[in-house]
Amino acid sequence: MTEASAPLAGRYSAGDLSLFTGPERDRFLGPHGVDGMKALHGDEGAWRRIEPHLVWELLYRKEPDLYERLIAGEHVHPGILDWLPVRMERCVEVAAGTGRLTADLAPRCAELIAVEPAKPLRRLLTAKKDLRKVDVRSGFFDAIPVDDDWADVVISLSSLTRNEWHGGDAGLAEMERVARGMIVLVWPSDVDWLRDRGFEYVCFDGDMAVEFRSLQEAVTLARIFYPHAIDEITSPSVSYDVLGINPPRDLAWKHVP
Ligand SMILES: C[S@@+](CC[C@H](N)C(=O)[O-])C[C@H]1O[C@@H](n2cnc3c(N)ncnc32)[C@H](O)[C@@H]1O
Repeated sequence: MTEASAPLAGRYSAGDLSLFTGPERDRFLGPHGVDGMKALHGDEGAWRRIEPHLVWELLYRKEPDLYERLIAGEHVHPGILDWLPVRMERCVEVAAGTGRLTADLAPRCAELIAVEPAKPLRRLLTAKKDLRKVDVRSGFFDAIPVDDDWADVVISLSSLTRNEWHGGDAGLAEMERVARGMIVLVWPSDVDWLRDRGFEYVCFDGDMAVEFRSLQEAVTLARIFYPHAIDEITSPSVSYDVLGINPPRDLAWKHVP
């Protein structure tokens, strides 16, 4: 197996943790205590113990183009775009990545701030011609660089989780601080956790598949991200069931007065 097709699990090493900035280390390594510190100093044993929590963060910083190829065929359900307001005065998108949802938000917003901690992803987002008017800022769920009550909509796609390093309760509180309208979490994880915090939940029906640009691309990316599914991939259109992930068909939202 070439390095280029190595599976995500095992793809990176402790040395790659040097890609994190100081604030990123605090967020992503801090919660792992001694193992986080040992891994940062090159201890591969400690790295293997914490690796499952960190591979995606290293992907964003070491191979942002590979992440962009992965998501190119993952389109959110059209029901989600229909559900979102047609017009927003001020919107903040947190964890905007390379701009997958930003591209749909930008034409609807008078002002749009896209917050994203990973510099390599911000660079890809900023390079997109259609997104030139978007105000792209560095920040985290628990440190959003926007004034209190600034946005009528604060939104995020496929990013916030209950874990403190991906937002957690502090991240939700910070989104509420910035919002005076609503918070929307598209393709949420931890739906019950969100319901307990006052969120409503909407899910849209219909078959959904990842539309890779070719069969070859589907197989290449599956070797890295979905090795268990390779034998079942026979076309560029691959059902989410085959990949073993839930499709981007749902959202959780909360009114913030
Ligand atoms: C699965 S990606 C989704 C990116 C983008 N929303 C999309 O759908 O393509 C998760 C994103 O969350 C960001 N992220 C991770 N931890 C974060 C945190 N604590 N605060 C803000 N963003 C975070 C990552 O940098 C990455 O852009």
